[in-house]
Formats: sequence, C-alpha cells, structure tokens
Amino acid sequence: MTLLVTGGAGFIGSNFVLDWLADPATAGETVVNLDALTYAGNLRNLAALQGDPRHHFVHGDICDRALIDRLLAEHRPRAIVHFAAESHVDRSIHGPGAFMRTNIDGTFTLLEAARGHWSGLPADEKAVFRFHHVSTDEVYGSLAPDAPAFTETHPYEPNSPYSASKAASDHLVRAWHHTYGLPVVTTNCSNNYGPWHFPEKLIPLMIVNALAGKPLPVYGDGRQIRDWLYVGDHCSAIRAVLARGRLGETYNIGGWNEQANIDIVHTICALLDELRPDPAGRYARLITHVTDRPGHDRRYAIDARKIERELGWRPAETFATGIRKTVQWYLAHGDWVQEVQSGTYRDWVAANYAQR
Ligand code: NAD
Ligand code: TYD
Repeated sequence: MTLLVTGGAGFIGSNFVLDWLADPATAGETVVNLDALTYAGNLRNLAALQGDPRHHFVHGDICDRALIDRLLAEHRPRAIVHFAAESHVDRSIHGPGAFMRTNIDGTFTLLEAARGHWSGLPADEKAVFRFHHVSTDEVYGSLAPDAPAFTETHPYEPNSPYSASKAASDHLVRAWHHTYGLPVVTTNCSNNYGPWHFPEKLIPLMIVNALAGKPLPVYGDGRQIRDWLYVGDHCSAIRAVLARGRLGETYNIGGWNEQANIDIVHTICALLDELRPDPAGRYARLITHVTDRPGHDRRYAIDARKIERELGWRPAETFATGIRKTVQWYLAHGDWVQEVQSGTYRDWVAANYAQR
C-alpha cells in the first residue's frame, strides 16, 4: 500500500511522514513524498529516513500535471494527503502571487489528476481511494471575544491572501466531491507547533530569537488569540480522518487551547529561563511590541467536538507538555536552526521586521 503525500518536507508534512513510517499500524506502507523544496521545505527534516526504501522522495511541483499523472500511474497510491502550500500569512501580504499559484492552481491540478486516476481504477481500489485535503481554521475569519468557537458549518470569511487562497482550495475540493464524486475529506486545523517548525512562525521565531538575544517582536498589543495544537496531535487526527472520516465531510481539529500571543511568548521565555538561563537576565526583557499585521485576525477558536464524537480523536498533549517538548527540541537542534537561517531567511527577516 502506498500513500502520496504532498509537501512532506515542510513542517507538518515531515512530522506526518515520520510518524506514519514509525507507527506499527502503517509502517509497512510506502510513502511517495512530492515536495518542491521551497524555502519552507527541508530534506534535513527527513534525514532519519535516508536509505529507507519505504520513503520515496520526489522533488517536484504540485502544479506539474504530467508529473502527478506519472506518479499516480506508477505508484497507484491508496490515498493522497495534500499538505503542500504556501503557509505564512505575513509572506502572503508581501507577495500573494505564490499563494494563488500553489494553494489554488496546485490544488486544482492535484484534484484533476486525482479524478483522472480514480475514475479509471478497478472497483475495489476505487472504493478505498481518498483525497485528504489539509486546511486551516483561518478560512473562517476572525471571532469576537465572546463568540462560540468555529464549527464545521461556520461561514467562510477569510481575511488574508493566505486564508483566501486556502478557502478557495477548500471550495474546489468540496466541488470535486459534489460534482464528480471524488472521495475527499477535508480537515481544518488550528495553529500547530512542535519540531521542524520553520522559524518564521510565532513559536519557533520566539525561541530562536530569544536564544540569540534578539528582540521578540510581538505584533500590536499581543492580545490576539489563537488555538494551539501540538503537531503530533494534528498528525494523529489526520490519520483518524483518513481511516474513518466520512466522505465529503470536513472535520475541525484543535487543541482546546486558546491563548493570547503575549501569553505564549511569556511561557516560552519562562521555559527558557528554566532550561537555558541567560546570564544577561530574564528572556522576557527582549519582548518588543512592533507594528501590527495588516488585517490581523483577532481571535480563532476551534470546536473540535465533531471529530471527537465521530472518530474518538482528542489531543494527547496539553499545551504545557507540548511546549516544553518543543523548547527542548529547539535547544537540542541548534544545527538545524542554524542551517535554516540561511541567506534567504535573513532576507525575509529584513523584509518583514525592518520597517515595523
Ligand atoms: P510549510 O510551509 O512548513 O510547508 C509547506 C511545504 O510545501 C514545504 O515543504 C514546501 O516546499 C512545499 N511546497 C510549497 N509549494 C509547493 C508546490 N508548488 N509544489 C510542491 N510542494 C510545495 O507548511 P506547514 O505549516 O507544514 O503546513 C502544511 C499544510 O497544513 C498547509 O496546507 C497549511 O495550510 C496547513 N495548515 C498549517 C497549519 C500551521 O499551523 N502550520 C495549521 C493548519 C493547517
Ligand atoms: P503565525 O505563527 O504567523 O501564524 P498565523 O498568523 O497563521 O496564526 O502567527 C501567530 C500569531 O502570532 C499571529 O497572531 C501573529 C503573531 N505574530 C507576532 O506577534 N509576531 C511575529 O513575529 C509573528 C511571526 C507572529
């Protein structure tokens, strides 16, 4: 049995591939991992799989229809798990074009290739085939402080070029199910954190900046609220939906863990004070409020009762256990951090933070 994973060299995708091949229930399967290796993709995340015949890495683009057709014909995967995307809101503000191309055109290309492949399968393979689309809670837009958390029927109100492009891709996936019968499932997850997280996002950025004695740039008042989920829990939720999710359904995935950004930053600082004390003083001294993100969503919150009710999934980590593991991982992987902070990373930091 084979799985085609897109974006499996990125943060969540690489965690998913590593978990999949480590779990006794799925360790016998092969993973074909298609990734364009943009700035966010890193084969070092997958170094543990070097030489492992169960992992077949393909350097390529999800917009390349001929390549996808070839991979589907050659490997006949039982499912496609689609992570590949441009994923960073601030980058989408600076340059939305890549988001439209990968997130919309790329998903469209994959859907068309999947439809062509699936419609020609024999009945038994056709019945088990799945297209699992990995999406975000950001498609629902921003919540008022006292509003109920996002359910799967919450209206789509995306506010950033990133979330608009992901919303568009969700709609395409839905339409390919309703119109063509393609067996799809979609998951909309809250903010992830954990190992291999590129240090442009809040949690890894704060850890690596603190360790380097650099300012910790908190956008605006820092009272924006996100729900945070440990990446391993996201991966286990995807596995549950892939195995037992109802076709054509969407499932919200979250950590029951709403927190303001500034509180997250203080938690990271306190953990670093404990695990790697800085002789120059407490890490919280580095917190610096900077100009807010344009169109910044104030609050996201996930109602994850459907996936619990239907599939029995709940997160295994609390925020306290997950964030401690994460900080410890960054402390132990200074070489990885150093490598990803290459020239293009420095260009991004200059572009995003110089004028704040
Ligand atoms: P990431 O930016 O870390 O990784 C994206 C991966 O996709 C990279 O390896 C990149 O090289 C690859 N990629 C980009 N464009 C490609 C293309 N055209 N063809 C092939 N590969 C391409 O992203 P992530 O944080 O791992 O997110 C993975 C998915 O999960 C995305 O679809 C994202 O929208 C979704 N998601 C992320 C979060 C989060 O908190 N990070 C939360 C919910 C949903
Ligand atoms: P981020 O990790 O970019 O995820 P998203 O925007 O997809 O939720 O940001 C999480 C929150 O942290 C968001 O409210 C923006 C804020 N933030 C900062 O305050 N400073 C930063 O340097 C970054 C990258 C994010």
